Amino acid sequence: MSETEAAEKQTAEAVGPNLVLTGIDGLDEMLGGGVPRGHIITVMGSFGTGKTTFGMQFLMQGLINGEKGIFISLEEDPDSIVANAAAFGWDLRPYLKEKKLTIVKLEPADAKATVTRIRSELPDFIRKSNATRVVIDSVSLLNMLFADDAERRARLFGLCQQLKTTEATCLFTAEVKDDNPRSSRDGLVEYVSDGVIGLRFNERENGDVQLVIQIIKMRRLPHPRSIKPYSITDQGIEVHGDMEVF
Ligand SMILES: Nc1ncnc2c1ncn2[C@@H]1O[C@H](COP(=O)(O)OP(=O)(O)O)[C@@H](O)[C@H]1O
Ligand SMILES: [Mg+2]
Repeated sequence: MSETEAAEKQTAEAVGPNLVLTGIDGLDEMLGGGVPRGHIITVMGSFGTGKTTFGMQFLMQGLINGEKGIFISLEEDPDSIVANAAAFGWDLRPYLKEKKLTIVKLEPADAKATVTRIRSELPDFIRKSNATRVVIDSVSLLNMLFADDAERRARLFGLCQQLKTTEATCLFTAEVKDDNPRSSRDGLVEYVSDGVIGLRFNERENGDVQLVIQIIKMRRLPHPRSIKPYSITDQGIEVHGDMEVF
């Protein structure tokens, strides 16, 4: 989807005041316009299913709407994120320059200290910068910094509570368990999130593979639970709501 198309989509569609366009074509239609404003949404899937792309596309939709966004990455450097976005035709540089977009890279080495800071400073930072969209890619890596289950739970719960005090709609990406693509690796994040969207590979015995998406949970919104194919192209992610999975 081009920037003009996305901008038109925002104005043309009767997006309710309490819904936020994800920017993912086909998914917004399945959601009846988008995700509820202020929700914490987790997008979970194994590597290569497009979680980071989903997060960037979600932020890009906000930037096109004139909103501000924050991308917190534990995986990639800002330069790499900018280059990846460019491959989808999204030029992040002007938004970075105008401080409409902030990319924060958490270095694993000092990440623990940073995590503590994030929790105490992120809500203020969101409020001060007027960001309405925040992406954490990935919350699984963030959680991995805490070995102890109880601490992990307390930290994640605390982070979510803090995020809820802002008006921002947040998107977490999460890795899934190797043996169960329906559960996040930590088994926690889906419980603290208001919404969960699952991405996975659907494999046929003949070797054919397709990417499929499912809205697993979405508080305060009636939604289909059907599994739909999606593709990742040079335009980003597009859900094929009119197609059936094989
Ligand atoms: N510019 C592009 N055009 C088409 N497909 C792409 C492009 N960039 C990435 N992809 C596809 O998306 C996949 C990775 O997406 P990514 O968002 O990094 O996944 P994840 O974060 O879940 O590991 C790649 O393996 C590739 O198949
Ligand atoms: Mg990723």
